[in-house]
Amino acid sequence: MSEHMSDRLRFLRAFLANPRQVGAVLPTSRWAVRGMLDLADLSAAGLVVELGAGTGVQTGEILARLGPGARLVSLEIDPDLAKLLDARYDDPRLQVVCDSAENLDTHLDGQRADVLVSALPYTSFDAGLRRRVLDLLPRALAPDGALLVIQYSPIILGELRRRFGSVTRTITPWNVPPAFLFACREPRT
Ligand SMILES: C[S@@+](CC[C@H](N)C(=O)[O-])C[C@H]1O[C@@H](n2cnc3c(N)ncnc32)[C@H](O)[C@@H]1O
Repeated sequence: MSEHMSDRLRFLRAFLANPRQVGAVLPTSRWAVRGMLDLADLSAAGLVVELGAGTGVQTGEILARLGPGARLVSLEIDPDLAKLLDARYDDPRLQVVCDSAENLDTHLDGQRADVLVSALPYTSFDAGLRRRVLDLLPRALAPDGALLVIQYSPIILGELRRRFGSVTRTITPWNVPPAFLFACREPRT
């Protein structure tokens, strides 16, 4: 079986085991990943943070765009998926962390991300977890940094606008289901 197919199966298994945590039945398409990452300049970033890495569709593309001295910290709460990421990318710039995004602060040593990439399923989180994670995003981002968010509904827009001075939204039809991409700048800390 191809890596693509086995990743889809692994992802589906993770969804069936924990639907609200995974929030999608398929990994994000490569077109949506590229459309999302095109919204920020990854080649100029020193520190990139990824939340909800899954099977690594964004991880691989972020590494391909990062400079040689940059760092990527990828958080994934599912231990099986985190293990897969660790085994798949043998890249000294990458640190895979198996932990909840709500504990992000403890993994950044006081540093702030130039680009934060979030694929977390905010709409299926309970209200407390959603607020805790959303509240830490502006604090984790450098003042001139960019937060990129992918979602399957626009519901999160108001929450993002409360926390960032500038929020732009696009829709990519090249994903199942079509995805909303948000680029957020000017963190309100
Ligand atoms: C919609 S999937 C996206 C996966 C992948 N980035 C993609 O685009 O295909 C959401 C991912 O977030 C992970 N996740 C859910 N809650 C999390 C949390 N609190 N902290 C870190 N990761 C979490 C899930 O295990 C899942 O892999």
